[in-house]
Amino acid sequence: MKTIKQTYTLNNGVKIPKIGFGTWQIEPGKNAYDAVSKALKHGYRHIDTAAAYRNERSVGEALLDSGIKREEVFVTSKLESHIKSYQETLDAFDQTMIELNLDYLDLYLIHAPWPWNAMGKDCKEGNIAAYKAMEKLYREGRVRAIGVSNFNPDDLQNLLDHTTIVPQVNQIAYFIGIDQKATLDFCQDQAIFIEAYSPLGIGYLLENKIVQEVAHKYAVTPAQLAIRWCLEKGTAPLPKSVTESRIIENTLVDFVIAPEDMKTLDAIKGDPRRWN
Ligand code: A2P
Repeated sequence: MKTIKQTYTLNNGVKIPKIGFGTWQIEPGKNAYDAVSKALKHGYRHIDTAAAYRNERSVGEALLDSGIKREEVFVTSKLESHIKSYQETLDAFDQTMIELNLDYLDLYLIHAPWPWNAMGKDCKEGNIAAYKAMEKLYREGRVRAIGVSNFNPDDLQNLLDHTTIVPQVNQIAYFIGIDQKATLDFCQDQAIFIEAYSPLGIGYLLENKIVQEVAHKYAVTPAQLAIRWCLEKGTAPLPKSVTESRIIENTLVDFVIAPEDMKTLDAIKGDPRRWN
């Protein structure tokens, strides 16, 4: 079976397609609608959005217009990073469902352990409160799985110590060159599944000479190699593209990276992302 059709199983038995379509930085409106429509047309059945991306409405419209049955698509959204209280989390979830025009979500995540404009701030109490609201949504059947994003082991331990449901997912920046070993090991021990956002290092990883050489050896593109690397690590990559040919290319990853080449790729160190 092609990788794009394959699934992993979360710690609560829910199945999640191995490759998701990332929508971060896709402008709301026609851009997001077209990109998600193309992704669905070319076989993606896992769409990752967030309230902070401001494109939930366009994602929802593309889902509806695709004509694909709701239960055939795995839809993720995220609680905005500054929301750290119980009632505000419930309210934000209601708004997300209005925007997406859906009656349940497959996965709802706390977007980050701190507000993006106060990275590193101690929000332990707030994360517990927000997560307890997500547990309520889970118990009510309004979400099929819950979890977090950008959480390190300390942030996760805080939830494990004060809440009931072990998160199903931690979505983190994960690509060739970035060291997330402590978080990966912790999540593996707790059966928390890792989703890999920015699997292409927001595109910059594809300029890496070693990545290019190994890709050449397999007669694949650097993007396909980078996506396959995430899969070899047992994570779910969430590549983003607004370009139809790339949306297709990023699904064609039915090859295996040999252990010696994984070793070569694992030796690459450094985060190539640039923010400008
Ligand atoms: P675009 O959306 O203009 O097609 P990431 O998923 O790591 O965040 O990377 C997203 C970036 O990588 C976007 O700039 C996207 O460009 C680019 N990209 C996505 N797929 C490919 C590909 N197959 N080849 C080259 N660049 C790609």
